[in-house]
Amino acid sequence: MKRPLLLRGIRPYGAGEAVDLLIRDGVIAELGPSLDGTGAEMLDGGGLVALPGLVDLHAHLREPGREDVETIATGSAAAALGGYTAVFAMANTDPVADTAVVVEHVYRRGREVGLVDVHPVGAVTAGLRGERLAELGAMASSAAAVRIFSDDGMCVHDSLLMRRALEYTRGLGGVIAQHAEDPRLTAGAQAHEGEIAARLGLAGWPAAAEESIVARDCLLARDAAATLHICHASTAGTVEVLRWAKERGIRVSAEVTPHHLLLTDERLAGYDPVNKVNPPLRTAADTQALRAALAEGIVDCVATDHAPHAAQDKDCEWSAARPGMLGLQTALSVVIAAMVCPGLLDWRGVARVMSERPARIGGATDHGRPIAVGQPATLVLVDPDATWTVRGDGLASLADNTPYEGMELPGRVVATLLRGEITAEGGKVQR
Ligand code: DOR
Repeated sequence: MKRPLLLRGIRPYGAGEAVDLLIRDGVIAELGPSLDGTGAEMLDGGGLVALPGLVDLHAHLREPGREDVETIATGSAAAALGGYTAVFAMANTDPVADTAVVVEHVYRRGREVGLVDVHPVGAVTAGLRGERLAELGAMASSAAAVRIFSDDGMCVHDSLLMRRALEYTRGLGGVIAQHAEDPRLTAGAQAHEGEIAARLGLAGWPAAAEESIVARDCLLARDAAATLHICHASTAGTVEVLRWAKERGIRVSAEVTPHHLLLTDERLAGYDPVNKVNPPLRTAADTQALRAALAEGIVDCVATDHAPHAAQDKDCEWSAARPGMLGLQTALSVVIAAMVCPGLLDWRGVARVMSERPARIGGATDHGRPIAVGQPATLVLVDPDATWTVRGDGLASLADNTPYEGMELPGRVVATLLRGEITAEGGKVQR
């Protein structure tokens, strides 16, 4: 029998008096002031904020196929260190996660590593080619129980195929997560279309390439009575389309990345490809609109779009570089900087956008639960007053393409617990 664990003096949701939390058999057994910890292992939580474990709907773990840049083990470690307890692994692997065999492999490997619950995302179309639907039913009924389907990295551009995908997933109780980008409008594009791209001589990536697909897909979801999720919403116009759709009862949810909340296309001035990402960094006005939408709930949640890349794919000229940036280990601190410090979200709000809503959207029923007796002890403890300086080579990922290199960020994950097991503590994963 494992010994009970007592968290001494934590503040659930950062509110009210500090309390003790006793964990027995992976479940919150008691919660209250000055609990008797006789016989229990002790973790001093003096002043730490306790939140439900974070849930990431969008991470590229690169296994199978690119184990040189990330594996399920290293990605899970980065996630646990970042406060995550569940991660949805995107399907653009090699081979693509478009069959039951591949998603089951990812799922099993995640279980073996055991640091976070890895939920494979299934591809919408075979090979991400956008020509015919993948084996959605087989993936949904596999051991991996796939619920989210996405061709992320590629847009499901064919309207009829998107309509069929929505209709089909409705029957499966699933969600289509769309990478909204009209590829005709972004052919050759290198940066957000606007003043900065013009000044730098980079081909522009119009906001309408995203917004037009979001609008189209909301209408298709309405007609199919299906559930749609928008990956990495990045423009003020997308927020307005989402508002329009939600006001009409269309079942659409959306995520925003930490980098689209904090960084703008001003960063492109030095042509450093670490800032190249898809969708591109937008304007300060877009960032403000996304922050307001996240606070209001028009954008439902934060998802990292953690995208590790090999050095040779980033340390090259801008146009040849691959898009994407690391996110799992910095997300919470970036959200604190962009949302909590300016007073747009309190800790309850952080729990909502980084745990409760994404868990609900992804059907990760064991996650995003209230911090209450009888609930799974799946938690993150955060020191709200600590700061830390990001060093890419100190992150758990195999890649080091972080745009926050050298930045001092607020808030530090002190410990992460998955069903009562400590998965990360004091900046180290626990195996
Ligand atoms: O920047 C990105 N990188 N955006 C995507 O949609 C895909 C991702 C990747 O796989 O590298």
